[in-house]
Amino acid sequence: MSSKRVKSIRWESGNLYLLDQTKLPHQMVEEKQNSIGQVWDSIKQMKVRGAPAIAIAGVYGLVIGMKDKTPLPPQDFMAELYNQSDYLKKSRPTAVNLTWALNRVINKVKASLKKSESTAGDSSSLYKTLIQEAEMIHREDEDICKKIGENGLQFIMPGMGILTYCNAGALATGGIGTATAPMYLAHEKGIPFHVFACESRPVLQGARLTAWELQRAGIDVTLITDNMASILFARGMVDMVMVGADRVAANGDTANKIGTLGIAIMAQYYSVPFYVALPISTIDVATATGREITIEERDGEEVTSMGGVRIAPEGVKVINPAFDVTPGELITAFITEKGIISKQFNSNLAEIAASR
Ligand code: MRU
Repeated sequence: MSSKRVKSIRWESGNLYLLDQTKLPHQMVEEKQNSIGQVWDSIKQMKVRGAPAIAIAGVYGLVIGMKDKTPLPPQDFMAELYNQSDYLKKSRPTAVNLTWALNRVINKVKASLKKSESTAGDSSSLYKTLIQEAEMIHREDEDICKKIGENGLQFIMPGMGILTYCNAGALATGGIGTATAPMYLAHEKGIPFHVFACESRPVLQGARLTAWELQRAGIDVTLITDNMASILFARGMVDMVMVGADRVAANGDTANKIGTLGIAIMAQYYSVPFYVALPISTIDVATATGREITIEERDGEEVTSMGGVRIAPEGVKVINPAFDVTPGELITAFITEKGIISKQFNSNLAEIAASR
């Protein structure tokens, strides 16, 4: 499995390479990122996407942006660091991991400045701290995914049908994914199960990415259009739902790819457990409920066309919210690297988030 596992982000000799996910499954093309502006565009255009992957790309984007700023005195270097980080945070607003990761590297650099108590000279040592922390976030994500997999493995019983939505897979992280992590580990152990991947309109992450990466790993995956999920539930073919998350509010309300809420409602109607797998960096206790989560609105063209081909009349009105919010009450449990979070979400999420 590991040799076949696709890597969406590669950091090598100080260079950042992103696998252009907009070209999958037809072409596997890595694109070298030469400027912070290019990284911003790659996030916005979803060449790199998925909450943890956006966070990793974002901190490397900051590393690239700050590269020629080391001659600045430390205070000016810090001011520039804040500016560039604010710029990157605006690329995609819903997934909290990006903000979390950028804040984390900034806090680390700030702490190293405080320790050195130096206000003169250049900022080479601060820049070195920035690189080290960005690399650490990347490395840690691989381990986090594995732990999510280990914690989620207990829910996969032989012969199960698992429905997933969008792509919370290896492509969306620095490891074996979040929702897919228990699947990869179960497959490695020889446990038989099958996955139903919803295509996930409008951008088709389920069809283009999840179906591709699971099939590539030899996992039994069946692709369905989003409107087919209901008949699978009605026919008793879905034993469990496993999805990822972009932001979890303090009360358990969860933003994930548009369409997730509909699946959660179906799961409740048919008494099927609904699990959300995520790193604890996706938990945002500063946001009280899902109502306060900013939902990214994307270009209407994603709705009026498919694969670059127009499918709707010119001039038709369109809305394109990229995410929806599933109320915590529809979620059976959260699967994290630090264990399972079950109800009561309010206190349990706060406790686990405080441990990071
Ligand atoms: O718009 P995307 O493709 O970035 O949305 C991705 C999702 O909604 C994922 O489920 C989520 O980011 C979790 S990825 C581990």
